Amino acid sequence: MGRFLLGLGVLSTIALGQGAGGNGPRTLKSVYGTKFSVGAAISAPLQVVGELRLFKDNFTALTPENCMKIGPIHPGEKKYQFGPADDLVAWAATNGVSVNGHTLVWHAQCPDWFFTDNGAPASKETLLARMREHIATVAGRYKGKVVSWDVVNEAIDDGKGYLRNSPWYQIAGEDFIPEAFKAAALADPGAALYYNDYNIELPSKRAKTLDLIRDIRAKGGVIHGVGIQAHWGLTGILNGQVLTWLEDSIVAFHSAGLKVMLTELDIDVVPRKASGAEVGTKEASGDDPFVKGFPEVKQQELAQAYGLVFALLNKHAEKIDRVTFWGLHDGKTWLNSWPRKRTNHPLLWARDLTPKPAYEAVLKAGG
Ligand code: XIL
Repeated sequence: MGRFLLGLGVLSTIALGQGAGGNGPRTLKSVYGTKFSVGAAISAPLQVVGELRLFKDNFTALTPENCMKIGPIHPGEKKYQFGPADDLVAWAATNGVSVNGHTLVWHAQCPDWFFTDNGAPASKETLLARMREHIATVAGRYKGKVVSWDVVNEAIDDGKGYLRNSPWYQIAGEDFIPEAFKAAALADPGAALYYNDYNIELPSKRAKTLDLIRDIRAKGGVIHGVGIQAHWGLTGILNGQVLTWLEDSIVAFHSAGLKVMLTELDIDVVPRKASGAEVGTKEASGDDPFVKGFPEVKQQELAQAYGLVFALLNKHAEKIDRVTFWGLHDGKTWLNSWPRKRTNHPLLWARDLTPKPAYEAVLKAGG
């Protein structure tokens, strides 16, 4: 393990990385690492000693939380900013963890320039040409350095429609999706290519995802897997609804010949009034019930919920390729600021980096 620490100076005295097969304490990696890879989204190379230890003890994979999205990495038509993504990819290699690239095509965090031409909406040809150039450049740069790409993110409509009415869809119709998969395969033929979305475990969105996969294949694209984001709430898991949908979806996606992943797992503990695309507007205000701490009774509920999720994942482990948490600990979760500023506790470690009861429940579910 010492070799991972060369160059990190002061950190070199810490014993890191008791993983699968090691004699150290049980960790996510030691319990699940032989079944599927376990990941966390992080924003930048970890500098804090405790965070580094926690990450290395538990995870085999990372997803860049923001720096590979179109906005950060390709802010202008002729302007790329590779620095933060290059740093994270190099850090992953030094630390022996795999990288899932996130994400090549998404309506959010995508700058206006992508969709406009001299102030008017861009033509379909222009948009697809820009998309192909973007994918060739970004996926080409990290060829051999990332193991997989979330090629298209969140393109399915939450309501009755098939695809989301995004600028991508308005300008290019359905074609942008298979074309994105073709471009990604050309840029990095060795990478596993995924479609990634939230709520696709729900029956209606699951059916549309299966349609989309058929469409991608019918139009000559190759798709290897599907990422269920898994941004869940406590209630939906404890009442069993999400688990039923999840199990049916794992089986359905696997039967369609796809690798299945949970790609952005977190369990929001602050009650919600809305779900899906409505969250951003309907949750704009509300109280902050856990600002002073997270009560023991809620800790236990969260532990129970995570235990149920991982018991199910363990049961279907041979169908699952990776489970990635969206953030490392409660101090570093997007749910502290989205859909509004509040104090959330959705992950396995508290802000002080101590493991929560949920962590023990996850380990226990692995046998
Ligand atoms: C989130 C990041 O965590 C935030 O830092 C950022 O401000 C917004 O995006 N679905 C996705 C992720 O696919 O990329 C999003 O990440 C969370 C929802």
